[in-house]
Amino acid sequence: MADDLVQFEKAGDEAQVEPGPGDTAAGSAPNATALISDIHANLEALTTVLADIEKRGISRILCLGDIIGYGPDPCACIDLVAQKCEWALMGNHDFAVLYEPTSFNPSAESAAFWTRQQFELEKDPVARRKRWEYLGNLKIRERIGNALYVHASPRRPINEYIFPDDVITAPSKMAQIFDRIEHRCFVGHTHVAGVFTDEPDFYPPADLDGTYHFSEREKCIINPGSVGQPRDRDPRASYAVLFPDRVEFVRIAYDIQAVIDKVKKIDDLSDFLGLRLLEGR
Ligand SMILES: [Fe+2]
Repeated sequence: MADDLVQFEKAGDEAQVEPGPGDTAAGSAPNATALISDIHANLEALTTVLADIEKRGISRILCLGDIIGYGPDPCACIDLVAQKCEWALMGNHDFAVLYEPTSFNPSAESAAFWTRQQFELEKDPVARRKRWEYLGNLKIRERIGNALYVHASPRRPINEYIFPDDVITAPSKMAQIFDRIEHRCFVGHTHVAGVFTDEPDFYPPADLDGTYHFSEREKCIINPGSVGQPRDRDPRASYAVLFPDRVEFVRIAYDIQAVIDKVKKIDDLSDFLGLRLLEGR
């Protein structure tokens, strides 16, 4: 497994060496917005992604939810998102920690209760209250111009999955979802990066050479993928950079083994939550 990790990291390093269309030599990208989602308390992935965003000169960052749940560093991740992001949305795991985990599998439920405990164990009452307030004030949806931002779907903004297979197996579901979108919608939740169009169709970033150009004739749903728990068989952290005319998808390697080691030391977090990161599933 250690060899696999090295291989993935090399692959990620190479991917970052190649300058992409979104790279900025001047170190300032005023028209760019970074979209991050599904961090899931993975501090190593989050800090790596934030450093990459800073390197590109991007100062505006939006978070599509699921800051916490599954991973070993919920407090640090909430604090960083609160500090770095213009706003963040409420994900189902954020909701579960704040209220109740419903329809969660046993390892996700256990992680939610453990996460809540970490918030409660904070000795500084001001820091403790600030975190709970931040979690409680996460937005359910945001609308900017003709773009809608939700964690999951326009119909059920916290919980409904929009899977790539839905374009084939559930076209009426996709039609109903697109009916609620004026032009563009940005979602997370599935941990699978890509673009849905209103054909309906789904394009993973590899099919788009990493960039999707907006079209006035085509509605789209963009998923930037997951920072902290990708599930598209690519273990590198995933996020997207939004420009007025396009969105660019980014993958970046991070220290997965450090996260696995932390998860293993925490009894209430299943070892699987760490090991799955190696395979990006
Ligand atoms: Fe998630």
